[in-house]
Amino acid sequence: MTHENPSHFDPTRPRVLVTGAAGLLGRHVVRELLHRGLQVRGLDLRQAEEPIEWQTGDITDLDCLRRAVQGCFAVLHIAARPNIWSGDGDDILRINTLGAWNAFRASEEAGIRRVVFCSSDSVAGYTVREGAMVPPDYMPVDLAHPLRATDPYALSKVLGEDIGRSFALRGLEVIALRPVFVAYPDMEGEIRARARDPEHYTGRLAGGPSSAGGGPLYNHIDPRDLARAFWLALRMKAPGTPSCPFEAFYLAAQDTLAPEPTVQRLERILGRPVEVRDPDLYRQHPYASLYDLRPARERLGFAPEFSQRHLIEQAPKPS
Ligand SMILES: NC(=O)c1ccc[n+]([C@@H]2O[C@H](COP(=O)([O-])OP(=O)(O)OC[C@H]3O[C@@H](n4cnc5c(N)ncnc54)[C@H](O)[C@@H]3O)[C@@H](O)[C@H]2O)c1
Repeated sequence: MTHENPSHFDPTRPRVLVTGAAGLLGRHVVRELLHRGLQVRGLDLRQAEEPIEWQTGDITDLDCLRRAVQGCFAVLHIAARPNIWSGDGDDILRINTLGAWNAFRASEEAGIRRVVFCSSDSVAGYTVREGAMVPPDYMPVDLAHPLRATDPYALSKVLGEDIGRSFALRGLEVIALRPVFVAYPDMEGEIRARARDPEHYTGRLAGGPSSAGGGPLYNHIDPRDLARAFWLALRMKAPGTPSCPFEAFYLAAQDTLAPEPTVQRLERILGRPVEVRDPDLYRQHPYASLYDLRPARERLGFAPEFSQRHLIEQAPKPS
């Protein structure tokens, strides 16, 4: 374990712990928090360039998390095996579930008020082909829609949320963010290539080797928007109810990266009509995501500012 304090580090000021701070998303979140004037401690297996206090260590080690949360007023738990291709099922389930347990447990012990847990839209069950790909009952998928994890990664996120909810019942404030596929800048090439020829594209697909990249509907979110959602989750007033201060939010860009409108695409894939509970949404925004973004807007104050859809709209069509 190493601690390295940047020169402007003030030990008397409260800080936020970001687990997974050296990862793709973690670094965006760290930058957002620094931009907002917060002091940040990062926990990860390795250290990155960002000028914060770093602790290297493993989230499956409870003592490591106990040290990491000291002096912090909130925890953003982002560290995880980040998708179904990031290890075998045993490792993904063990690391993500035990890591979440340790993060919540160490936070409660230290008297921390709020933990923001990085979940995933995969909890709904319609993201990657390695699972059973259970289609949604209706669209947009809202917070009342059943969770139907069918692969170890999605299951680890459902369990992580359940662990968080159990701590919320004991008083900890817990917010679970469920982002869709994060379109990082280095995936632009894949997104453009797929858009040029969606039917015949055989290259690597954004988001992993399977046709994931946001699931069959190509949902996506820009990492800058997602990082801002973490900041908003730190600031939001009282999540959930007084007896269970737990709340979850689906997060996505306004539009998908799919070549056809969302309802039309889902109905074509399923070969049958789908119950559309908010026809106005898809009438006004034909490419709107599969998920209901209203709770994020109304409760969290989150409105996506970025979309990578311009990448596919600029892509020349095959002749
Ligand atoms: N990338 C996506 O499309 C996507 C979509 C939804 C949710 N998420 C979630 O976002 C989070 C961040 O993912 P990412 O895209 O930045 O992936 P990433 O692999 O770049 O980041 C994950 C970070 O967690 C760290 N980590 C992994 N195991 C650890 C351990 N045992 N102890 C300490 N640190 C450990 C890694 O070193 C890495 O820096 C994850 O929780 C992931 O499940 C990602």
